[in-house]
Amino acid sequence: MTVGLKTMSLIKSSRRVRRSLNVRNVSDQLLADGEVKKTRISLNINTNMLKIGFLGGGKMAQALAKGFIRAGLSKGDMILASCLPNDTGSVETFKAMGSKSVFTNNTVIDYGDILILSVKPQVVPQVLPELKNSKKLLISIAMGIPLALLEKALPQGTPVIRVMPNTPALVGCGATVYTRGKHAGDKEAEIAEKLFSAVGFCEEIQENLIDSVTGLAGSGPAYICMVIEALADGGVKMGLARSTAYKLAAQTVLGAGTMIRETNLHPGQLKDDVSSPAGSTISAIHYLEQHGLRSALIGAVEAATLRCRQVTAEFEKK
Ligand SMILES: NC(=O)c1ccc[n+]([C@@H]2O[C@H](COP(=O)([O-])OP(=O)(O)OC[C@H]3O[C@@H](n4cnc5c(N)ncnc54)[C@H](OP(=O)(O)O)[C@@H]3O)[C@@H](O)[C@H]2O)c1
Repeated sequence: MTVGLKTMSLIKSSRRVRRSLNVRNVSDQLLADGEVKKTRISLNINTNMLKIGFLGGGKMAQALAKGFIRAGLSKGDMILASCLPNDTGSVETFKAMGSKSVFTNNTVIDYGDILILSVKPQVVPQVLPELKNSKKLLISIAMGIPLALLEKALPQGTPVIRVMPNTPALVGCGATVYTRGKHAGDKEAEIAEKLFSAVGFCEEIQENLIDSVTGLAGSGPAYICMVIEALADGGVKMGLARSTAYKLAAQTVLGAGTMIRETNLHPGQLKDDVSSPAGSTISAIHYLEQHGLRSALIGAVEAATLRCRQVTAEFEKK
């Protein structure tokens, strides 16, 4: 199948539109009522080169640090991460980026102009008390931890941004949303958006939708990896070499996703374009419908979202 002229021109115009727009859902003016503004701590952040502290130096922290450095938003020697002493792999990864790591969170809290809370959600209650005097912009990537809980642990007026990235951020292809706390203004939102746009797509969203984003995009890479694995198994069953099958399956998913994103065409239309009458694709589609592919994926997003809500409720009860 070849991409037609119409599709190519749609790709180009959608790129132009995206470049020229700086879309933001919630403006500072709308959010900040007088009282909130009065108590807001004003920060002095050098946005030319950001001083970033990661609380928890695991997989996501490493992926983000690499992306921030690659995008020129920070430098290796301006990033500090806290890692547990036995986590030599993470220590080495930060070293390779020209960054330092330490074993205590306090050093990171003192150092960073921006602190990124990147420990596992269950470790967050252990780390939050260490932030009780920290008047720094806090960006949390922890799944299920609501803004209100983070704000309660910090000095009054501290700006907090809650972010939900996903693992393709590792390869600069993440899908991230963020939501701001009541003391985070346009300046802080802009910093978050710049940082996470460095590792893929990033957009502001309301907090009540963040669990749904986790169910779709946060957990989504796992569903798609299963799809790729299964497609490749199909290819192997039909005689392809395993390595060829994985390459073809991964590239097909990447290609279909890119076409939808770049053309803004309805996925159904792109599906119809490759389903010729009495052809092989429509036979496969019939098979997938009989076996409930759509229903399974809808159910997966729902199950993950509900689990996130449950985790949030458990944290709120504590
Ligand atoms: N991975 C994803 O797909 C994804 C997507 C969206 C959001 N997130 C969020 O990103 C956060 C990090 O996830 P991850 O996948 O990067 O997990 P991870 O690789 O396990 O990273 C967490 C890091 O924090 C360290 N740590 C544990 N206790 C600590 C403490 N008290 N002080 C400082 N550091 C401590 C861990 O060390 P040890 O390994 O030695 O315990 C580990 O290096 C999570 O909150 C998760 O919800 C992840």
